[in-house]
Amino acid sequence: MELAWKGRPAHVREMGQGPAVVLVHGYPLDGAMWSGVARNLSEHFRVLKPDLPGRGGTAAPPSVRLEDCADFLDTILAALPEPVGLAGFSMGGYAVLSVAARAPRNLRALALLDTRADGEDAAGRARRDEAIAAVRSGGAAAIAEEMIRRLLAPDSLRNRELVERVRRLILRQNAETLEADLEAMRERPDQTATLPRIAVPTLVMVGEEDAISTPAEARRMAEAIPGSTFVTIPAAAHLTPMERPGAVADALADFFAGVLAPRA
Ligand code: MLT
Repeated sequence: MELAWKGRPAHVREMGQGPAVVLVHGYPLDGAMWSGVARNLSEHFRVLKPDLPGRGGTAAPPSVRLEDCADFLDTILAALPEPVGLAGFSMGGYAVLSVAARAPRNLRALALLDTRADGEDAAGRARRDEAIAAVRSGGAAAIAEEMIRRLLAPDSLRNRELVERVRRLILRQNAETLEADLEAMRERPDQTATLPRIAVPTLVMVGEEDAISTPAEARRMAEAIPGSTFVTIPAAAHLTPMERPGAVADALADFFAGVLAPRA
C-alpha cells in the first residue's frame, strides 16, 4: 500500500489476501520483526506490516508522541475495507491502544502482544532519559546489546541466527528515530481507562518469560478488557513474534479467523 504521510511517501509492505490484519512493530525495531508471523498469517489474511514514521518504508520524520503514531495507523486503517484486525507489539501496542480509544469505524478486532496500558512512572522516565543520552552519543549500537538481552529468553539467546537477525534490525535504526521513540514512550498516555471501553474482540498475548511487560501485567490488562482472550507463549521472553513466530502466528490466526469473517 502506498500512502502520503506528513507530505512524504510511505510504503506499507503487505502480502496475502482476505480480511486485513495490520501488524505494528515495537522499539527499537521496524516492520520486519513480523516477517515470520506475516508469512504464516498471509495464507488466510491480507497482512500489512507498516514501519512507524522515521524508519524503513516511512520516510516522514519520526513521531515524538504515540498519538502521532496512532494518527499514522488511522490513515492506514482509513484506506482499508472493513473488517480490519490490528495487532500491536509492545511500543506498537501503546500506539494501538491509542487507536482503540478512538474506535475507528472498520476496526473489528485487536491483538495486544507483550505490551501494557499504563503510563511511565518516575523510575521508567529516568531510564528513558538514560537511553536517550546513550543513543544521542552512540546511536543504535549504544543500546543494542542490552536490548537483545532484555528482548530474548535464555533459549533464544543461544540461537545465534536469531540473535544476529535481531541485532541487524536494531543496528539499522537511526539515532534520531530511536530518540523520538524513547521520548514518545516516556510521555505515553495512561490508557488503563480505555481498557473497559474496548468494544471489539481482543486477544492479549505475552511471552511466559517477558520481563519488560510481565505476564502478571498482561493478565491484569486482559481482565480489564470485556470478554478478552488471554494467551501465554512458552519459552519466549518479550520478543515473542521473532522468538516463537509459529506459535504467535497460530494464536493470531485462530483468533482473527473467528472474529474477522466478512459480514454477510
Ligand atoms: C518495545 O519492545 O517496544 C519496548 O521495549 C517497550 C518499552 O520499552 O516500553
